[in-house]
Amino acid sequence: MEKPYILIPEPPSRGGIISLKEVIPGASRVAGKFGRILAGERLDSKIVEEEAEIGEIVLEARGIRKAFGSVVANDGIDFEVKAGEIHALLGENGAGKTTLVKILYGIYRCDEGAIRIGGEEVEITSPTDARDLGIGMVHQHFMLVDPNTVAENVALGLPGGRFMFPEQEVKDRIKRYSSVYGLKVDPDDRVWQISAGEKQTIEILKALFSGARVIILDEPTAVLTPIETADLFEALRLMARRGKAVIFITHKLGEVIELSDRVTVLRKGKVVGCIDTRDTSREELARMMVGGRITPSVRESSERSGKTVLEVDGLSVMGDRGTMAVRNVSFKLDSGEILGLAGVAGNGQRELVEALTGLRSPVSGRVEIEGTGVTYADPRTLASMGVAYIPEDRMELAIVGDLSVSENLVLRKYWQEPFSKGISLDDGAIESYASEMIEEYNIVTPSKDTPARKLSGGNIQRLVLARETSRHPKMIIASHPTSGLDVKAANDIRGRLLEESNQGASILMDSEDLDEIFMLSDRIAVMSKGEIVDIVPRDDATKERIGLLMGGALSK
Ligand SMILES: Nc1ncnc2c1ncn2[C@@H]1O[C@H](COP(=O)(O)OP(=O)(O)O)[C@@H](O)[C@H]1O
Ligand SMILES: [Mg+2]
Repeated sequence: MEKPYILIPEPPSRGGIISLKEVIPGASRVAGKFGRILAGERLDSKIVEEEAEIGEIVLEARGIRKAFGSVVANDGIDFEVKAGEIHALLGENGAGKTTLVKILYGIYRCDEGAIRIGGEEVEITSPTDARDLGIGMVHQHFMLVDPNTVAENVALGLPGGRFMFPEQEVKDRIKRYSSVYGLKVDPDDRVWQISAGEKQTIEILKALFSGARVIILDEPTAVLTPIETADLFEALRLMARRGKAVIFITHKLGEVIELSDRVTVLRKGKVVGCIDTRDTSREELARMMVGGRITPSVRESSERSGKTVLEVDGLSVMGDRGTMAVRNVSFKLDSGEILGLAGVAGNGQRELVEALTGLRSPVSGRVEIEGTGVTYADPRTLASMGVAYIPEDRMELAIVGDLSVSENLVLRKYWQEPFSKGISLDDGAIESYASEMIEEYNIVTPSKDTPARKLSGGNIQRLVLARETSRHPKMIIASHPTSGLDVKAANDIRGRLLEESNQGASILMDSEDLDEIFMLSDRIAVMSKGEIVDIVPRDDATKERIGLLMGGALSK
């Protein structure tokens, strides 16, 4: 086994190039040509840090093919990344993104294709090879030792471990990287105490320690809060500025636009295109990603109607743990208005939604719909008043999995005309109504009689929307309406909500996806620690401000 590569530092003090052997006796391989000493770095500290020439292609993959049985996950992929760029790898679930980077990181071998690093063809047969070649990967699932400290976990991940980096040096370097890149982690914290964001930071540190010139992150924001996401983006920008090549996998268009310099779009294992981010738009990216045309569902600016539908006054709601989850919340919702409810999970949004849908009794306060008190109304009463509910957990709350698609479609109205005739149900009426709904809402199902649980997530959600909105409700309470759905399904669902609001429905939408909140909302209410800390018109809001409000860093 070869030793890890070490670059040749070019010390500012000498203005020259030191021989490799002066730095690490016995090191045998040089990947990359020159390096620079970072400010404050000691020459004898066994630096494995390199800054390639900005713009130079550091990694290139040509004609990559990988099949799993009959599934061709990567089908002739060409991909390259340059020093100093953040290169987004965009694609829907199953497009082949993870497979590609696992090949680059030596977890999978490709069936065909070549990988070049610094222009030279290489064999990457294991993650150790990848690290030796300057490729680092931030894993989605963290591989950390809980009882140990941050510093110990970083050291454990290093080739040569403690021999190469004694503990104090590991700590010093963590502190330095933290200050250089704005990473927020304390080397002495124990892993079990820290957040998912900090765990991810450890993975990033490991990549930096191993001297990665290419840093791969596979859907890194999935586990992060908006504030942590902003910090990560800032760190990645700084890394790119220092010459690292960052490969950033995502299926979120907003992240591509916000963060990347270039983007390669994958669809069904093939490259659809590679473009400069500044030359593209969400619309174009969405089309490339899903193929064919989709018209993105986005709210244009709107006027408030001034006609109040929902009025919530001083509402307090107890949470499951016996503490007040919603504290003295007041707001109004107009007809035709979409109010986005933003917040980090667990700040009272769920309890507020449950109180407004009759699933949880408030402790105090008042709720009115068009002037009628409904503070303690049950779900069925609310439904009969025209309140539709799109719950967060569609499998548990929205459908009965073992009932058929038709039965689920009439679940909230089978006792009404025309489905009920005296004491029996009119199957014919139910069937024809179901056919209509399946058609109108594009529900993909083998038949009307298929058990609902067999449908994909997107089609279950279409079913729920068909059922809840076909009679044009007065108000819709939607909880995470598109979470876990693919781009096309999510777009359809958002389009449906917009259509209902255009028809006059008031919509309260709780979502953890800030992009979605910004796409649809007229106003954005931010919850933090059970309170609505502010309500901002969408057109005056920035993600940064909403993120800060969510984090409790700002108040009115
Ligand atoms: N280890 C595996 N075994 C079998 N099929 C796999 C494996 N890994 C990925 N696939 C399949 O390859 C395709 C691409 O998957 P993946 O690369 O994970 O996509 P993405 O990361 O873009 O969501 C999918 O159809 C997936 O089911
Ligand atoms: Mg993936």
